[in-house]
Amino acid sequence: MRCAILTLFPAALRPYLDESILGIAQAQGQLQVDLIDPRSYAYDPHRTVDDRPFGGGPGMVLKPEPIFDAVEELERTAGPFHKILLCPRGRTFDQRRARELSAEPRLLFACGRYEGFDERIRQGFAWEEISLGDFVLAGGELAALCVLEAAVRLIPGVLGCAESAQLESFESELLDYPLYTRPREFRGMAVPEVLLSGDHAAVARWRTAEAMRLTARKQQLQRGQP
Ligand SMILES: C[S@@+](CC[C@H](N)C(=O)[O-])C[C@H]1O[C@@H](n2cnc3c(N)ncnc32)[C@H](O)[C@@H]1O
Repeated sequence: MRCAILTLFPAALRPYLDESILGIAQAQGQLQVDLIDPRSYAYDPHRTVDDRPFGGGPGMVLKPEPIFDAVEELERTAGPFHKILLCPRGRTFDQRRARELSAEPRLLFACGRYEGFDERIRQGFAWEEISLGDFVLAGGELAALCVLEAAVRLIPGVLGCAESAQLESFESELLDYPLYTRPREFRGMAVPEVLLSGDHAAVARWRTAEAMRLTARKQQLQRGQP
């Protein structure tokens, strides 16, 4: 997968991108990430990428010209990208979309800052608008990393154990079941006996029951019930 991230803070992203799963995917040649700073496409002496909103109001708005120039140059040189605009008004991201995006050969993320994007940036390209949830971040960078990481770990061969991605939360109707490792007892808390029994059918039954319990519990929490 080739990925490009439009961000005013490329230096903040690189250390995270080069660690763990995303770093491994790059080292294996399964992922290439280009960080593109719209300031490089601002041609005035101050490299201006934002301006005050027409009609008044607080804050600054990302100007269209640097973003249009950056996207157009990228696609001219590297071909078309599936373009994702991170913003609170987008569709809330989920595991199903992560799996679909993991099959995209090229992803472009545009990270907003300040009050967000000039509306013509939205109009000018066929963006998929993605939100992380009903809260407001200071910028789209963390959202881009979340979406990218969720997608890249599903590219075949990136995870050491492919089975682990198939068994985890949101891949089925149920959340993941509780996990334990050594020691068998820690500060008075013991590993459930069934997991030590060697009875694989009993372990499977226990895990399903626990996954159902945790899924029902989360549904209760989502409904605001204690
Ligand atoms: C401070 S926010 C702008 C918020 C905007 N004025 C509003 O009220 O919807 C700056 C940028 O952070 C990113 N952002 C904020 N919240 C987000 C969310 N929930 N999901 C994805 N991106 C988000 C977007 O890229 C946005 O343009």
